Amino acid sequence: MSEMKTFYLKTFGCQMNIYDSHRVYDLMQSNGYSFVDNPVDADVVILNTCYIREKASEKIFSELGRIKVAKKHSGKFDNFVVAVIGCVAKAEENNIFDRVPYVNIVLSPSKYHLLPEKISIAFNNPDEKIIDVGLNGVEKFDYLTDISLSSLSDYSAFISVQEGCDKFCTYCVVPYTRGREVSRPFEDVIEEAKKLDNGKTIEITLLGQNVSAYNGKDASGNQRCLADLIEEIAKFDFVKRIRYITSYPTQLGDRLIKLHSTEKKLQPLLFVPIQSGSDNVLKKMNRRYNQQQYKQMIDDVLSVFPDAKFSSDFIVGFPGETDDDFKQTLKIVDEVEFINSFSFKYSPRPHTPAQKMDNQVPEDVKTKRLIELQKLLSDKQLAFNKSLIGKVIPVLFESVAKKEKNSMFGKSEFMQTVIADYNENCIGKIVDVKILEADAFTLKGELIEKK
Ligand code: 5AD
Ligand code: SF4
Repeated sequence: MSEMKTFYLKTFGCQMNIYDSHRVYDLMQSNGYSFVDNPVDADVVILNTCYIREKASEKIFSELGRIKVAKKHSGKFDNFVVAVIGCVAKAEENNIFDRVPYVNIVLSPSKYHLLPEKISIAFNNPDEKIIDVGLNGVEKFDYLTDISLSSLSDYSAFISVQEGCDKFCTYCVVPYTRGREVSRPFEDVIEEAKKLDNGKTIEITLLGQNVSAYNGKDASGNQRCLADLIEEIAKFDFVKRIRYITSYPTQLGDRLIKLHSTEKKLQPLLFVPIQSGSDNVLKKMNRRYNQQQYKQMIDDVLSVFPDAKFSSDFIVGFPGETDDDFKQTLKIVDEVEFINSFSFKYSPRPHTPAQKMDNQVPEDVKTKRLIELQKLLSDKQLAFNKSLIGKVIPVLFESVAKKEKNSMFGKSEFMQTVIADYNENCIGKIVDVKILEADAFTLKGELIEKK
């Protein structure tokens, strides 16, 4: 084996996992490993995994199967270490070793800072099954102080500020895979934001499963809220845009809502997953609001900040969901201007109460409902996108478009993808673009001001 060991890292799942993978990347680099983009060549293969739906979880096992075949094919199926980290690791624990005997290490989302140490053990004892699936809140961040983001991140960076969830929605594995709700100390987050002043990052997204419930303590022991964090981060000159995801719809808080009207760096798209429009279904999901309260929240936001737009997650085919319940979901999509939403078929998950509920909805009904909902969401999104034609909007250009030569793509304030003719001076900057064309997924425009 060569002097410098290599690692491969693949990420599945949500933004929290993408953030965690950035930290793993930095951790591995600072421990002398260099990144390779092909698992066959890697001395260490790390999969950062997602358990949210069955499909996400099964992907990990097929990926492990593919890697085995590819390694064998190239005659490299020896002397390497495989680590499964993240939510599948937490939920499936030792089952992973049973299903895939060549896995060496299994670490929960709270324990991946132990990777370098565990990898050394695994290289010395290839037959040992190394597992640590404890959950201990935000302790890992104390070990993850190296923030380089060297190759994974660009102009837009994530900071996890809160982890876990206490809500126990009956469909969701998060309380089991990420543990209870914990916030990082206030100054730790500010310190991490400061490290992003690297001449590149201009957008920061604060992450948490329930980010608007952030309640970290500051150095004087006072509890601080998400609005405090945003205000403090907005003071940094290099930061031009701030976002936060995901919020529990009824836990935004007046200060945060107000801040949208005064803090120009705070972006106008709010991620407030409703999941279903039916009060019956919401109750069975253990969501702590009804349709009317959700709409009240939307009105409260719009009354102080009329420019706000909303993004939501939806689950169709939750146990017991009738045609009438589903119609309530379509109704709310009709009433609230949702843009950039995500919708899923309900997937029964181990550990969760909904898995054991009566009246599971047949797969074909779920599929039919999902198609109908996605069509409506996409029609709405198209209408909104088209309403921007002729308007001038600020766009953060991130990179050169892969498919369309001589063009670059960026993100609007509302997270729409915007394409314009390539101009190298605009990459990494926020520039004004006049929108000329729009479909449901992308906007095309021309630069107004060249910086
Ligand atoms: N089945 C389908 N979708 C789910 N989500 C969470 N759990 C499940 C499940 N068991 C969706 C929710 C959540 C998003 C991250 O994933 O909509 O907001
Ligand atoms: Fe997947 Fe949820 Fe874990 Fe994110 S927190 S990786 S969505 S299971």
